[in-house]
Order: sequence, then C-alpha cells, then structure tokens
Amino acid sequence: MIVDGKQLRPIWLEADGRTVKVIDQRRLPHELVILDLTTVDQVIEAIVEMVVRGAPLIGVTGAYGVLIALHTAENEAAFMEACRRIAAARPTAVNLAWAVARVSAAVQAGPSPGERQAAARREAAAIDAEEVERCRRIGEHGARLIAAISQAKNGTPVNILTHCNAGWLACVEWGTATAPIYVAHEQGIDLHVWVDETRPLNQGARLTAWELGKAGIRHTVVTDNAGGHLMQHGRVDLLIVGTDRTTRTGDVANKIGTYLKALAAWDNHIPFYVALPSSTFDWERRDGLREIPIEERSADEVRFVQGLGPNQTLRVLVPPAASPAANPAFDVTPARLVTGFITERGVCSASEEGILGLFPEKK
Ligand code: MRU
Repeated sequence: MIVDGKQLRPIWLEADGRTVKVIDQRRLPHELVILDLTTVDQVIEAIVEMVVRGAPLIGVTGAYGVLIALHTAENEAAFMEACRRIAAARPTAVNLAWAVARVSAAVQAGPSPGERQAAARREAAAIDAEEVERCRRIGEHGARLIAAISQAKNGTPVNILTHCNAGWLACVEWGTATAPIYVAHEQGIDLHVWVDETRPLNQGARLTAWELGKAGIRHTVVTDNAGGHLMQHGRVDLLIVGTDRTTRTGDVANKIGTYLKALAAWDNHIPFYVALPSSTFDWERRDGLREIPIEERSADEVRFVQGLGPNQTLRVLVPPAASPAANPAFDVTPARLVTGFITERGVCSASEEGILGLFPEKK
C-alpha cells in the first residue's frame, strides 16, 4: 500500500534471497521500524513476539522462514526440526503450518542444495503473491456488499465496525476485512469505520487506525465494550472481521472479543461478515469450539499497556501488581452467528454447503 507517498509492505525478501525485511508492528503507530530476519530463531521470535502478526502474514513469514532454514541448517535433520519449530510458533492461525508444509514439500523434490533453495524461494514468493491476489479479490466481492448498503441508505455514510487488525499489515496488501473498505473507498462510496481498540495489544487502536488514517478513510476508535451500544442505536450498518482459522463447517476463530461482537450483531439484526482467503480455511476440522487450538499468551500483555509518553514509548502497569491475569488470545464464533464469508471466489453462506459451493474441490 502507499504510505506517505511510498510503496510499503509488512514483509519482503531482499535481493540476496536470504534476508527477510519486516515492519516491527510492536512499534506502530508511533514509530516505523524495519527489522532484518536472517536466522530461524529470529523468524520464530518475530512470530511469537508479534513483530509480524495476522494469519496471512505469519503464513508468508513462515514460508520465507523455510527458505532461511534451508540456507542455515547444517543437515537435513536440522532443517526438518527448524520447519517444525517455525510451524509451531503460534497455534491458532492455520496459515502458518499450511505455508511451512507447502514450502517444505516443494523443497523435497530438489536434487541439489542450489535447486532446493531455488524451489523454496519460488514457492514462498508464490504464496506471497497469491495472498495479495486473494485479498484483492476479497476487496472486489466485499465492496459490492458495501455498495448495496450505501444505495439502500441513499448514499449517506455506511458505518462499518471491525475488530482487531485484519488490514494489509496482517496480510501483505489490501487486508481481508479492510479490503472491501479500501475498494469501496476507491469507488467513492461514503463510509466510516468504527475501530475496536482490541485489548490487550490494541491492534485496532494502533494498527487499523494507522492504516485507515494513512489511506484517508474516516474512522473512529472505540473501546471494545462500545460496539453493542452503537449497534442498539443504529450506528452500525455492517460488521466485517478477519479470521485466523475457519472450519469447513463455518466456525470462525478470530481475535478475542469477536464472539461478543457477533452476538450483539445477531441481537440487532446487523450483518456480520467474515473476510478470509482460502488459506485460512481448515478443511480437516468441523467443530471450531472443540477442535481449534486457542493460544494463551502472557498475562503481562493484559497487566501492562503501552503508549506514547511525553518523550518516548511507555509501558505502564494497570491492575494491582499482585492480581493474576489471564490472556486467551482468540475465541470461536459459531457459524450460526455469521451472515456470510467474503472469499476470493465470492460471498457464501456460513455453512459447509455454502463454503463447498465456492470450493467444490474440497468436497
Ligand atoms: O494476534 P494477532 O494480532 O495475530 O491476531 C490477528 C487477528 O485476529 C486477525 O483478525 C486475523 O489474523 C485475520 S488477519 C487478516
């Protein structure tokens, strides 16, 4: 995307073919810092510490991580172990294990080290490019939903609520939930976005608000608790969120708090859409609540908040120092609360039948 007149992506491979550059998303929105990843340990740390985050982006990072593993591992056993560790760095987003498996499979066929490296580079670059194209198409399909609401409202602003950051920072370009918003904005549709702050790490307040601001899209940051009230008062026309893993039956794992938004949308008869590329479907699982692994992160992410002080970034303690905290990072929204999915192949109902209608090869 264009940021301050420059083309910027959250990840790219340098010309040397073994250095991966990433935006350090922990530092946004107040500092734009680019880091180099050249070892497997750095790749894993970047994923675990959420330098890079968001399902498609950690998939692409994992894909380039396999390339780095190939350059740095001493032998085949070390390479396989590196791939296993990268795939396990975060458990909920299915894209990570999927991308690592895809690049390691492409490498198996290569007869020489040089050919294996070329195969890994080709496959990782293909995943990267495919995610961009999938998100672009999600934008086109989703923008039609926004256009229909705009027409029904006689061109008055369409109010969209989103949770977490499912923007280009979480993907490579466009985003998933934000892609329809960017396309609709380009088409001249009047819209406004309610941005959930998304505690504990504030991906909405820090990242989605930054993205939308840079794109000149009108938005307002609200607390995670405000959505129900806004919906009750007719101030939300549509919700669009992303997902980290969606079962073949349509159960949606996404950032903690998504389920509560879906419940409020259901109670207020407001459409609740989930935007996702096909790489985020888990075709093996049927029951999201029982089967999707939910990441538990450090309690310190709940206990401390980070923000800009008078001169520098500050991290401050909120609850009493002795109070324990818990930090489940995702929740599961059952398919019955989801109006539909916006995918690269079009929009479908949140059911196995609807999903397989768009992806018949997965029957
Ligand atoms: O913990 P995070 O920031 O990686 O969680 C990200 C989300 O929950 C996003 O909504 C999801 O990955 C979709 S990204 C297009």
